[in-house]
Amino acid sequence: MAELLVLGIESTCDETSAAVVSRNASGVGRILSNVVRSQVEIHSPYGGVVPEIAARAHVEILDHVISEAMRQANVSFSELSAVAAAAGPGLIGGVIVGLTTAKSIALAARKPLVAVNHLEAHALTARLTDGISFPYLLLLVSGGHTQLLAVEDVGRYTRLGTTLDDAVGEAFDKVAKMLSLPYPGGPQVELQARQGNARRFSFPRPLAGRREPDFSLSGLKTAVRLEAQRNAPLSEQDVADLCASFQAAVVDVIADRVKVGARAFRDRLGRGATALVVAGGVAANTEIREALVRVASDLGTRIALPAPELCTDNGAMIAWAGIERFARGFMDDLTVSPRARWPLDPAAAASATARA
Ligand code: KG4
Ligand code: ZN
Repeated sequence: MAELLVLGIESTCDETSAAVVSRNASGVGRILSNVVRSQVEIHSPYGGVVPEIAARAHVEILDHVISEAMRQANVSFSELSAVAAAAGPGLIGGVIVGLTTAKSIALAARKPLVAVNHLEAHALTARLTDGISFPYLLLLVSGGHTQLLAVEDVGRYTRLGTTLDDAVGEAFDKVAKMLSLPYPGGPQVELQARQGNARRFSFPRPLAGRREPDFSLSGLKTAVRLEAQRNAPLSEQDVADLCASFQAAVVDVIADRVKVGARAFRDRLGRGATALVVAGGVAANTEIREALVRVASDLGTRIALPAPELCTDNGAMIAWAGIERFARGFMDDLTVSPRARWPLDPAAAASATARA
């Protein structure tokens, strides 16, 4: 196939981003631009993302972010093969802004539209950065999602495990909040943990050893809250020790769950994964990255850990997923709807609903 050139738009949460990515005839991808504007400062006074404020902020800067991405890539709309946008899952106001903008560009420039699932974009990023082939084991750990998935092909995902309560990033954010650390909490907890004693508090490792590769974080979060209350008022050292002990527990939980996930992958597919791929904002955490490198080495599996700026939300991952879908003939018409919820594995989502 000839070279493909796709503009990707991301606006599902608190990052406004646009990127231009190409793929050459041998299938190798290249990021020509990836402009990311974070709304962290706008939301930080509220201690979390406020959906209406996020949608408004996307409206205000998306046009500018897109022109900047096109300018940096030095391409015009007429040269694009297609326009891709994240059509969900996410905060619906923001999703509407990004998808509607993509539709307008597609209509005006007479280009095909590709509506991308944000989770699929996280899942496929390692093929852009590391050229990973199918099938692989994906650990997706972000503020909204914590899942282990078997990625068999573009559009073919089997959920092996998920969180029964909080997402890992959410647990980091909640622990930060209870310790009065600024938003977003994950990076703050990591920073504090560097000065702390990870052995001072022995927090639980929920579901350790369980055969299903699911996660549970709420018991751990509660244990941190109880220790924080018991030691109040907290000194700087107390906060650092709580963060270090919490992070150590999360590291152990992730390592254990991924090992179980690798076994579930083999049972399900009858073969091992080509690689362990990690995605989502939490994958920016150094301790977690190092632990996953050890896990992959124990499993004898290659690991793909995209650079932190490609683990968090960005337009390049949407553009790349757009390329992967477009190359397989998956396009969408202009009536496609934005979706607040959009599971990658509908079968798993349906069975979870049936159980509930
Ligand atoms: O993928 P992402 O940018 O947004 C979505 O949730 O889709 O992930 C953001 C999450 C937040 O919960 C944030 O606290 C967490 O990733 N995070 C981290 C770190 N950096 C970001 N958690 C732990 N350690 C970090 N260094
Ligand atoms: Zn994300």
